[in-house]
Amino acid sequence: MARTPRNARHDEDPEGYDQLRRGWLNRRRAEFFAERVRLARPEVVVEVGCGTGRLLTQLAEASPGTRFLGVEPLADYVEFGRRLIADAGLTNVELHVATGEEVAAVVPPAIADLVLSSDVLHHVTSQADVAGSVRRIAKPGARWVVVEPSAANVYVGAFQALANGERNFRIRPFLRAAESSWALTARSRMFLIPAAIETPPAWLVGMERRLERVPGLGGAVVLELTAR
Ligand SMILES: C[S@@+](CC[C@H](N)C(=O)[O-])C[C@H]1O[C@@H](n2cnc3c(N)ncnc32)[C@H](O)[C@@H]1O
Repeated sequence: MARTPRNARHDEDPEGYDQLRRGWLNRRRAEFFAERVRLARPEVVVEVGCGTGRLLTQLAEASPGTRFLGVEPLADYVEFGRRLIADAGLTNVELHVATGEEVAAVVPPAIADLVLSSDVLHHVTSQADVAGSVRRIAKPGARWVVVEPSAANVYVGAFQALANGERNFRIRPFLRAAESSWALTARSRMFLIPAAIETPPAWLVGMERRLERVPGLGGAVVLELTAR
């Protein structure tokens, strides 16, 4: 039986995909999520669509007192991530094979203080089912930090619309799909430097910080939601 495509053309290649996600954009994203973890001081963090587990491994190394759970539908990505975790000798992070729609089947109810999803919700089959399932594993008042490609950026929007296996993330339909269980508490944009640039010079990083918030320039949208 044909497998459901999950991550465009990268489904069979966790090593290649992990390598692709080692550039500036993902280091920046990891710094951003690490800051959110520091601010929330959570007991439990869940990442939905954790890919190869690279982000969770970094977060778990930086916050040994926090428990991290990742769910990811691609079994070969989860296997790759479990090797990363074992190689790093971490005992505070575990990965499960599941979709975001199924997260409540593999993660205990009302356990998460903080939920993360990075570049995932434009891939899922049902954003409403993901939002409902994520709500079931979240504590009352828990935060969900969502980062998705911004369709308002002309290059990102065109890429997402045209590339095989991708699609544009639409903010309003997502918020409507999630609204019975999640309230929007903050919204911003980030990223300007193209993903292919591994090590940008300091002036370019400074420019990114200044210009990424301008509508139409920021490459990603950041939504921060609170559990109702
Ligand atoms: C663009 S990748 C991002 C992976 C990781 N979050 C990162 O930033 O490197 C999208 C991920 O979403 C996963 N995915 C696709 N459909 C999903 C679903 N229904 N529920 C959860 N994750 C899903 C894919 O398998 C893939 O790992």
